[in-house]
Amino acid sequence: MTFEYSKRVPQTDNDVVGEILEAAANPAVISFAGGLPAPELFPVKEMQKAADTVFETEGQTALQYSNAIGEKVLRDEIVKLMADRKVTTTVDHIGVTTGSEQSIDLLAKMFINPGDTVIVEEPTYLCTLDVFRSYGANIVGVEMDENGMRMDKFEEALKAHPETKLVYTIPTFQNPTGRTMSLDRRKEFVELANKYDILVMEDDPYGAIRYEGTELPPLKHFDTQDRVVYMSTFSKILAPGMRLGWIVCNLDVLSNFVVMKQSADLHSDNLSQHIIAKFLEQNDIYKHIKEISDLYHHRFELMLEAIKNEFPADAKYSHPEGGMFIWVELPGDVDTMELFKTCVEHNVAFVPGDSFYPNQPKRGTFRLNFSNVDDETIKVGMKRLGDALKAALQ
Ligand SMILES: Cc1ncc(COP(=O)(O)O)c(C=O)c1O
Repeated sequence: MTFEYSKRVPQTDNDVVGEILEAAANPAVISFAGGLPAPELFPVKEMQKAADTVFETEGQTALQYSNAIGEKVLRDEIVKLMADRKVTTTVDHIGVTTGSEQSIDLLAKMFINPGDTVIVEEPTYLCTLDVFRSYGANIVGVEMDENGMRMDKFEEALKAHPETKLVYTIPTFQNPTGRTMSLDRRKEFVELANKYDILVMEDDPYGAIRYEGTELPPLKHFDTQDRVVYMSTFSKILAPGMRLGWIVCNLDVLSNFVVMKQSADLHSDNLSQHIIAKFLEQNDIYKHIKEISDLYHHRFELMLEAIKNEFPADAKYSHPEGGMFIWVELPGDVDTMELFKTCVEHNVAFVPGDSFYPNQPKRGTFRLNFSNVDDETIKVGMKRLGDALKAALQ
């Protein structure tokens, strides 16, 4: 039969990202394309111990249906994590989600009618773009520099689009650029959101993984009008396979969120919620996060050194103080989709920048991931990449 899909399903046979990831998955190819945490640091033993305790002491509760807002034991732990992130909140403002991906999807579903305008950083997380597109959003990109979204351009966009409903931002160690919004800009960002009366979706999966510089409070810290919906996740600080994240927000938004979540999946995995709550009770999460940050710092330094040694001298690159990605901008008018093909022939892969742009991509850009590759692989892969770049740019 001919399947008549809704407009929410991408109307193209052209799955560019799927093709990129498939090419990168070839075992001969060294891939800097993914965005996976280092699995050798998953706290397997500690998680096993937490799971054992849960099965021994609260097995029947943990295997039962739960509620959409999330288990109180976990939400209590999240209140403490938020306090450490300089956000004072209470358990009734917190909802547990099936990862930040679900937070993004449900919020988009709640706020975006077809044709509504949303503002994003340019470039931004490509799955968020897919979600916004699926709800028919008109996506407006705002230029960034090394200090995050440019506030002059943000205000220009707000003036040009007074109908704007919400702004989505990843202020800390952004995906894909690794850049962080400066302190002054954070304050200005919230002031502009207040002035133009728009909702803020703050996505913070990487903020805890800082290995250089000074910690910066999330936008939510500066939110005097309760308009910032803060989203974070256990994916990068514990284990993405457990699929748990959270939102912190206004009570009215949360009560509607809970209704929408109920029809999406009833609730997030109850067993995982109990296990993570127990893990947090039994272990020092900051000791674990320090191990992750130290390893990523080391890998970042190696990749940075290789960029300096192997890349064309006029290539520009971000210098993240945390997170998992470096963003590269090549000089001249380079088609990085074509460049990607050349690199795959050299058995090395990255993600071309195009997919991270809501509209017109910036030429010559691509994202490198360093969290999921060991030292030797970084050295060999970056040499291959440098050779491929030089060959392609000649
Ligand atoms: C910016 C950003 N937001 C959200 C997510 C989704 O994370 P989760 O595993 O919590 O669904 C990711 C995953 O890589 C991400 O990079």
